[in-house]
Amino acid sequence: MQQQSSKLFEHVLVVGGGLMGAGIAHVLAERGVHVTLVDQTAQMLERAQRQIEKMHRRLHPETEVQPILNNIVFSTNIEDGRDCLLAIEAVPEKMEIKQAVFKQLDELLPQEAILASNTSSLSIAAMSSVTTRPSQVVGMHFFSPVPVMRLVEIVRGINTSEETTEKVRAFGKQIGKEVIVAKDFPGFTVNRALVPLLNEAAFLVMEGNDPEEIDRGLMLGANHPIGPLKLTDSLGVDVLLFTLESLYEGFNDSKYRPCPLLKRMVEAGHLGKKSGKGFYNYS
Ligand code: NAI
Repeated sequence: MQQQSSKLFEHVLVVGGGLMGAGIAHVLAERGVHVTLVDQTAQMLERAQRQIEKMHRRLHPETEVQPILNNIVFSTNIEDGRDCLLAIEAVPEKMEIKQAVFKQLDELLPQEAILASNTSSLSIAAMSSVTTRPSQVVGMHFFSPVPVMRLVEIVRGINTSEETTEKVRAFGKQIGKEVIVAKDFPGFTVNRALVPLLNEAAFLVMEGNDPEEIDRGLMLGANHPIGPLKLTDSLGVDVLLFTLESLYEGFNDSKYRPCPLLKRMVEAGHLGKKSGKGFYNYS
């Protein structure tokens, strides 16, 4: 199965060249997969290329990035990927945008092609419903930064077939990732378990505990490699709040109610590392 799969997808269409799309294109190209990376403007694509160059310099300063870039066609025309048997969508986290892309991909790509979404919170079933091939729609949830993080969560929607799941699982391994399969419910596996922990850490701060003490507590007492508040600052306080809100709505369950402190922090612009201030100061 694995040997067969090493040649599964030789040309992959990645739609959306932001933080995640550029990272996905990078990892695929590094593993010898030909990638067509599509975004809306040349400017976005230039930014994607710069991101790949920068990450490559950081991870492999001793080698040239050009061989990787040679495997990527940067394009504003999605039709350039029309022969691909796998598309991975990484456009913004809005169902209308995702569904429009899935419709477009469904019309464009060969009938046997698999359509994957990198969504971190939206329903794969809802994306599959606008296509004529719902059994070939699946989640491939990469983690940021994609070239560094080892996991891909394969999300199996209600309509997703076993064959599709197995093909993308094998492809995940082909590109050097570890793979888990999760059901299509809010938060999938990783965020579902992680996000309530981060939320609880925010409650501890709201109750007057010191962020550094909390982080040290979890690192030393539970063997976590990074404290929950440092991690929240890295992910983005706004991203945590958004994910909590989608869990809260998705399950209609009070256990996911976002900590009010997170709301206040977002209102105040304390978004974490990216804004210079979160639970810690970065200036
Ligand atoms: P981003 O905003 O950096 O990138 C989105 C890109 O899509 C932009 O470059 C935008 O120009 C482009 N775009 C918008 N509409 C398009 C269209 N119709 N065709 C082609 N390109 C289009 O967003 P980011 O952070 O890369 O997130 C993308 C997806 O990945 C979202 O679904 C997000 O939830 C998911 N995700 C994000 C993670 C993160 O840490 N940022 C982690 C895991 C998943």
